[in-house]
Amino acid sequence: MFSLVPLLLLPLLGILNVAAINHPRALHEKRTGTVKLRQHRRLSPREIVPIQIGLKQLNTHRIEELLYAVSDPVSPNYGKHYQPDEVVELFAPSNETVDAVTAWLQEHGIGEDRVVLSQSRGWIKFPAAVDELERLLDTTYHLYQHQDGSEHVGCEEYSLPVHIKEHIEIIHPTVNMGGKRKIFNHSKKRSLNKGSLLRGPKTNGKKPSQTFNDTANCDSQITPDCLRALYQIPATPEPNPKNTFAILELTPQSYVAEDLKNFFTEFAPSIENTLPKLISIDGGTVTADTLTGFDINGESDLDFEYGMSLTAPQLVQLYQAGDDVEGASFNNMLDALDKSFCTFEGGDDPNDDGIYPDPLPGGFKGKESCGIVKPANVISISYGADEVEFTDFYQIRECQEHAKLGMMGVTVLYASGDNGVAGNGGVCIEKLANGTVIESVNGTIFNPSFPEGCPFVTGVGATQVDPGSTVNDPEGAAQQVIFSGGGFSNVFAIPEYQKAQVDHFFAAHNPPYSAAVFNNSRTVRAYPDVSANGVNYVIAIDGEFALVFGTSAATPVFASVITLINAERLRVGKSPVGFINPAVYSSSFKEAFNDIKHGDNPGCGTNGFTAVEGWDPVTGVGTPIFPKLLEQFLRLP
Ligand SMILES: *[C@@H]1O[C@H](CO)[C@@H](O)[C@H](O)[C@H]1NC(C)=O
Ligand SMILES: *[C@@H]1O[C@H](CO)[C@@H](O)[C@H](O)[C@H]1NC(C)=O
Ligand SMILES: *[C@@H]1O[C@H](CO)[C@@H](O)[C@H](O)[C@H]1NC(C)=O
Ligand SMILES: *[C@@H]1O[C@H](CO)[C@@H](O)[C@H](O)[C@H]1NC(C)=O
Ligand SMILES: *[C@@H]1O[C@H](CO)[C@@H](O)[C@H](O)[C@H]1NC(C)=O
Ligand SMILES: *[C@@H]1O[C@H](CO)[C@@H](O)[C@H](O)[C@H]1NC(C)=O
Repeated sequence: MFSLVPLLLLPLLGILNVAAINHPRALHEKRTGTVKLRQHRRLSPREIVPIQIGLKQLNTHRIEELLYAVSDPVSPNYGKHYQPDEVVELFAPSNETVDAVTAWLQEHGIGEDRVVLSQSRGWIKFPAAVDELERLLDTTYHLYQHQDGSEHVGCEEYSLPVHIKEHIEIIHPTVNMGGKRKIFNHSKKRSLNKGSLLRGPKTNGKKPSQTFNDTANCDSQITPDCLRALYQIPATPEPNPKNTFAILELTPQSYVAEDLKNFFTEFAPSIENTLPKLISIDGGTVTADTLTGFDINGESDLDFEYGMSLTAPQLVQLYQAGDDVEGASFNNMLDALDKSFCTFEGGDDPNDDGIYPDPLPGGFKGKESCGIVKPANVISISYGADEVEFTDFYQIRECQEHAKLGMMGVTVLYASGDNGVAGNGGVCIEKLANGTVIESVNGTIFNPSFPEGCPFVTGVGATQVDPGSTVNDPEGAAQQVIFSGGGFSNVFAIPEYQKAQVDHFFAAHNPPYSAAVFNNSRTVRAYPDVSANGVNYVIAIDGEFALVFGTSAATPVFASVITLINAERLRVGKSPVGFINPAVYSSSFKEAFNDIKHGDNPGCGTNGFTAVEGWDPVTGVGTPIFPKLLEQFLRLP
């Protein structure tokens, strides 16, 4: 008799379901047309799918207010950053949310015996049969096939009862194809960052002259001395052992110890034998004991050669993320920095993030790196992608996590891209006749960068010493080999801190493009925020010196400037500067930047935008003037 009970209950559940389905519903999420997946087959009603429901965090509507309260120079709480535990408490979902969602599941016959609530109350997990799930979410489930051969369980869109919608952020697997990877094409190694996230740098194949002892040739070769001269960065900063500075590298990118030594011997002899401190995230190791070429070593060599030279004797941390089978993404780094992100934000998307322990042969089998290290005061990231490659939810969730880092007093800097108004690889956006949005070499719509569109990160653009000019002349926007990434987000609204300057840009220098080319409504986030030189960098690589170009170069340099400023603030008993955007756009900081007023950032068959007086979508508010920037930040509490 007992074994019959569930069967007898089923028709009853069916009746109850009618009541549940009668709740008014609303669309919750819809798949974007950019993911390279096609429907393979309809799932059968009895197949079991493991479901994860990400509950709405508390206080996310206050995240800007909370962040600006500790980072806006006029706020009485400037610099009073939060402890990690306080951030967790602030954003944990409410009991009301947990209760509402569990009650709704119960109505559908998904009882407490089947449901697991994560320790932090952020995620509800349970196994569900496909027919049950299709009723719950009012959708149909398919097995999708990705171009790389991998398969994903998902649906085109799903809806929720209106009274439940406000309590749920995301459900996996649905439109983000974040479900269990059922089949993976093992004959094909997939590395997330190789094409999609790496910014550069680029090389022109030319060799620098070997005369590095003066600043007379900074228009053709940038050295640490050129940067010190351009931005008045002190040559021998005082050490501050309390200070921290980290640079992210996504495997397979890796530095070569011999290259760093060669560079320091020439440019920073005091750290000749110093290496960065490795912080391994998800199995990341420094693999390149052997020379493996510009594409693997260029970024890391550049980052540490300049980041370490400019801040010596500061110990610089290397966040090396991902094994060399699967690689890693920004979310893998964020998981490692914030325990609450992986345990209750969690739910990394296998389309976009590395999944650890790595299910692939030869991959890292250890535990996922979760809250393994206290975030450094400054994190420099010379990687990036295009907004159009990700769903809005994915971007919003990751953006909020950056706000939390800002609340904890961390400055996160991202390279703004090397293709002007175009995306990585120079591609732009094309809208097909049926409304589908794709990235294409034939696209004519500007292609904004991710995550620069997030208003809680600092985007760094690139400048140059113009040919024939010296370090004493005004720089222009980068116009050699690369163009500074800049533009306007299609996902994020304009933050308060940049409204006045962006309005000024449109009022005084309205760009000659229509709304069909970029979002010119003045209501969306504009980038970059700041800039630094990114042209003709001398780096030691693979046993020789070469010249490289990129916002990849500008970013560790700007990060070094902020690191030196933090050292001085810590020395006088103040906090690190944390999220810098509200300060750098404020009027008292105007004199702390060299305003860049010429050069443009072409792409998508246009000349792009033009660097002009004031903020512009090519070079932001400009390049740093170290002593003035330090003075401004020291004046703040
Ligand atoms: C939420 O629920 C937990 C566990 O049931 C309880 O300990 C806690 O006091 C509740 N919090 C509030 C604010 O009601
Ligand atoms: C797996 O990848 C290899 C190499 O790219 C390809 O030749 C093969 O057709 C793929 N198999 C499937 C099932 O997609
Ligand atoms: C730089 O070094 C070269 C070669 O050693 C020397 O000829 C030149 O005078 C030096 N220049 C300066 C400014 O010291
Ligand atoms: C839109 O058109 C493209 C190209 O013809 C096609 O690949 C895509 O499936 C279409 N999308 C929809 C939703 O019809
Ligand atoms: C771009 O346009 C050219 C010329 O119309 C066409 O031949 C080509 O297939 C297009 N490429 C893409 C990726 O759409
Ligand atoms: C520009 O962004 C605003 C705010 O998100 C939006 O309402 C508007 O539709 C966008 N315009 C275009 C042309 O996409």
